[in-house]
Amino acid sequence: MERENRVSITVIRRLPKYYRYLGDLLRKGINRISSQELSKMTGFTASQIRQDLNNFGGFGQQGYGYNVEELHDQLGKILGLDRVYNTVIAGAGNLGQAVANYKGFQDAGFKILALFDKNPKLIGLKIRDIEIRDVDELEKYIKENNVEIGIITTPKESAQDVADIYSRSGIKGIWNFAPADLRVDDEMIVENVHLNESLFTLSYFLNNKSDYIRD
Ligand code: NAI
Repeated sequence: MERENRVSITVIRRLPKYYRYLGDLLRKGINRISSQELSKMTGFTASQIRQDLNNFGGFGQQGYGYNVEELHDQLGKILGLDRVYNTVIAGAGNLGQAVANYKGFQDAGFKILALFDKNPKLIGLKIRDIEIRDVDELEKYIKENNVEIGIITTPKESAQDVADIYSRSGIKGIWNFAPADLRVDDEMIVENVHLNESLFTLSYFLNNKSDYIRD
């Protein structure tokens, strides 16, 4: 999407939260919301919300607020959730299987076509209806099936090898769960997930209840 000004990563990281809350409102049949009400729900200030959304065009109207369905649709488009992404998982252990088992990713457009592993005991098994294949076939499979997103749930020692396979077979984005800093070329987008960091933040809040500024 072409825009005059580039949007900061912090704003982009808030968009999924707006999208989620708007989806909840839609399901409750609420059609209109003010930035003040959105502020109460999300914990961001009303002016922050207006500023964030203004980055993408004037969605709201003074005195009216936002049309929930329209804003939800627009944010969905901005987030690229109005299409399907063919996705594969490398590493079909505990976490890889859990990710494959969660239907919500597929419902959001991230279609998991196959899992790949090097353990012969796992190859041929199915998670829901998704087959676990031999990692030796990964490169060929990606090329033949127009796969855009590669998930990494291997041990960290294998993560770079998998990232290299993803890079040379045309994957555009990696969702990396392995605790490894991947080296990839500039065109590849890597999104790292660290559940530990969230858990350690919880631990901080448990131990320092009032010692932080909410933003
Ligand atoms: P696991 O040992 O159950 O599964 C790993 C799987 O990867 C195994 O089936 C193994 O055969 C396979 N594997 C190893 N090398 C491979 C290769 N070169 N190609 C394809 N498959 C390969 O481990 P678990 O518990 O599922 O964890 C997986 C990864 O996720 C680990 O790196 C772990 O540290 C990480 N993790 C990250 C979390 C996060 O918040 N980011 C949370 C939990 C785990």
